[in-house]
Amino acid sequence: MKIKWGVIGCGGIADRRTLPGMMLAKNAELVAVMDTNMAAAQACKEKYNAKYAFDNIEELLAIDEIQAVYIASPVFCHKEQAFAAAKAKKHILIEKPVGMSVKEAEKIAKVCKKEGVKLGVGFMMRFHAYHQEMKKIVSEGKIGEIVSARAQLTCWYPKMDNCWRQDIKLSGGGALMDMGVHCVDLIRYITGLEVKEVKGLMGNQVFDYSVEDAGGIVMRLENGAIAYVDANFNIPDAAAKCKLELYGTKGSIFAQGTISQVEGGELEVLCSGESGGYDAAQNRATIEPLPVEVEFGNMYTKEIEGFGDAILGKIEIPVSAEDAIKSQEVIEKVYKQN
Ligand SMILES: NC(=O)c1ccc[n+]([C@@H]2O[C@H](COP(=O)([O-])OP(=O)(O)OC[C@H]3O[C@@H](n4cnc5c(N)ncnc54)[C@H](O)[C@@H]3O)[C@@H](O)[C@H]2O)c1
Repeated sequence: MKIKWGVIGCGGIADRRTLPGMMLAKNAELVAVMDTNMAAAQACKEKYNAKYAFDNIEELLAIDEIQAVYIASPVFCHKEQAFAAAKAKKHILIEKPVGMSVKEAEKIAKVCKKEGVKLGVGFMMRFHAYHQEMKKIVSEGKIGEIVSARAQLTCWYPKMDNCWRQDIKLSGGGALMDMGVHCVDLIRYITGLEVKEVKGLMGNQVFDYSVEDAGGIVMRLENGAIAYVDANFNIPDAAAKCKLELYGTKGSIFAQGTISQVEGGELEVLCSGESGGYDAAQNRATIEPLPVEVEFGNMYTKEIEGFGDAILGKIEIPVSAEDAIKSQEVIEKVYKQN
């Protein structure tokens, strides 16, 4: 059985990534697309063969056969659109961050619960084959007890006119809320450890828009491990590797280029096993990396299929709002400290 979808917001992520992914999903059928910019809606209708294109949400929500909507509008639109979709009894896959603030995100989750619709969140990087593999290696204890982790996501994001992401009133935050939140989410997801303490710094060094152009976070995880997140809007794309590193008492995992919108990148797993005594000479023996074989797919296809299967009652919601909001909470704590 196929879930019939409506898409709200036909901009960057929907057109470039999620709609192409949806086209490959076994359990999805696109019915309608909507964007306040009718030309964008019309272009997506034609490109992805939808039945309808609209410039308003009411017409889309009035279509009975639509069972689920994907909300990929700017963050300041999420709340009203999610409320309307929930009231229309449509299940909702919403892009990250869920709302402008944790309070707003929680309201969205509450309304969905009250209306009896499922709410999933677009942290699609969890589905990356290497991230799934990292989670498996960690849960099997192959690198021992996690003691440290680091995740980095950056881009070059110069000041532009009419750019909602660069306006705090429309985005709710900058480099940390937009990109750092993926890093926090991946550390939580892969290690299976919740964040217990947060210290962060942020600021504007290169670009003077109203959101931060860089931020760094130090987090204490529930087992005592200390983890680091860095998110920048001011590092040239080609100069950053978007590193993800995990260190345990028996080994480590290094990924680069995996914190990305496309499955790929590199992974190195070093398992040293039990360590003996202290090596005063510090003659660091080199270890052969473990061979890792994965099959890359499309993170957005997996995201859409997973949420569809949850609607069909086959599985739990892969990224629930309650879970996703915990990642947003970390970013909000940094904002309150600065
Ligand atoms: N999961 C990810 O990795 C990822 C990546 C990029 C963006 N996102 C998220 O996706 C959402 C959209 O980001 P984007 O980069 O696609 O933005 P974008 O600016 O490229 O596109 C947004 C689209 O929404 C339309 N729009 C504006 N107001 C609207 C409204 N009221 N109703 C419907 N459409 C409206 C715009 O015309 C535009 O076409 C944000 O929540 C963002 O954080 C997630």
